[in-house]
Amino acid sequence: MTDIRVETQAVHITADPPVGSTPAAVPLYQTSLFTFDDLHTFADAWSRPDGAFTYSRFGNPTTKALENAVAAMEGGTHAMATASGMGAVSTIMLSLLRSGDHVIAQRRLYGGVFALLRDLADRWGISVTYIDAEDPAEVQAALRPTTRMLYLETIANPMGQVCDLPAFAAAAKQHGLITVVDNTFASPVLCQPLRHGVDVVLHSTTKYIGGHSDVVGGIIAVADESLARDLWSRGTELGASADPFAAWLTIRGLQTLPVRMRQHCETAKVIATRLADHPKVTAVHWPGLESHPSHATASRLLSGFGGVFAFDLVGGQEASHTFTSRITLAALAPSLGGVATTVLHPASISHSGMDPDSLRAAGIDQGTVRIAVGLEHAEDLWTDVAQALD
Ligand SMILES: Cc1ncc(COP(=O)(O)O)c(C=O)c1O
Repeated sequence: MTDIRVETQAVHITADPPVGSTPAAVPLYQTSLFTFDDLHTFADAWSRPDGAFTYSRFGNPTTKALENAVAAMEGGTHAMATASGMGAVSTIMLSLLRSGDHVIAQRRLYGGVFALLRDLADRWGISVTYIDAEDPAEVQAALRPTTRMLYLETIANPMGQVCDLPAFAAAAKQHGLITVVDNTFASPVLCQPLRHGVDVVLHSTTKYIGGHSDVVGGIIAVADESLARDLWSRGTELGASADPFAAWLTIRGLQTLPVRMRQHCETAKVIATRLADHPKVTAVHWPGLESHPSHATASRLLSGFGGVFAFDLVGGQEASHTFTSRITLAALAPSLGGVATTVLHPASISHSGMDPDSLRAAGIDQGTVRIAVGLEHAEDLWTDVAQALD
């Protein structure tokens, strides 16, 4: 078109794809929509999830790069990136459950998921039975004719329980249940639940995968085509899709995930071991310690014991409040998995949605503090923890 005016020129800016060279980093396609030269191609793309990109809620090249990478790292075939970890959880629940269904869930669960299950139970007529997840026979014992899903965490938040995933997944399969595992605390570096017979894996990528406390996101990975289609169809209807910029930041985090996880695990070992010997600490819940009830299972299933754990202080609530206000290098903050250490009081924050009985059953009391060990030097971190304890 000739003689177009500045208003039109300003709107219609285009970038040619590079010819003869390739960008070294995954490009950020920060666009909500894609344009077409002809209606036939557009209509074809619109009708198929695996067709050309049309609209970024349905798919985007940057988001797709993240999805493909996580699917491969988890040993799956498909993934869907979501706007948050809870977006992944709610997509899974609302896609795979119907009103009247029954869920068997691990008792020691992230508080947000506990609250979601309680609200689903209230509003949607979905019932939930909590199990200790110590013995796969608990699945059979909790079973009802309407049971549809078993929901577990690889390393449970915040007490570090690691259940026998292959045995639980096999018990669930025997009764036709879908097994869903939140793999946030382990990341695909320490464990790949799909390889142990699990059907659906999810992450809050806000945590280790993003890794820098600068992005909120989630992801679901599966190894089954029809599950992938269900999750994608419902997830896009629910509007759970990730924004491309969030996906782009998450890719940058993912590239250093293996080295970061190794360091998180090493530093956690130093801090957990010293805390276990400290007179002001009554218990340390890190699965890497031989005293932890899940140590044997964790040694078999995980290639590292993770960087998050809880510990119980002598002196209950007062002691935990003093500790969390005296800590200086580590920040008193929600969330975990970033480069900087955070501490939190689960009973007041992450698990405040739980009633006192459920808290007690999950092993959390007023003296429990959670630490998410970052990438500071272990000795600097210990100096800070020790001064806050003293
Ligand atoms: C284990 C676990 N799963 C899921 C979530 C929810 O993730 P998001 O905050 O990204 O929605 C969290 C958040 O703390 C978590 O710790």
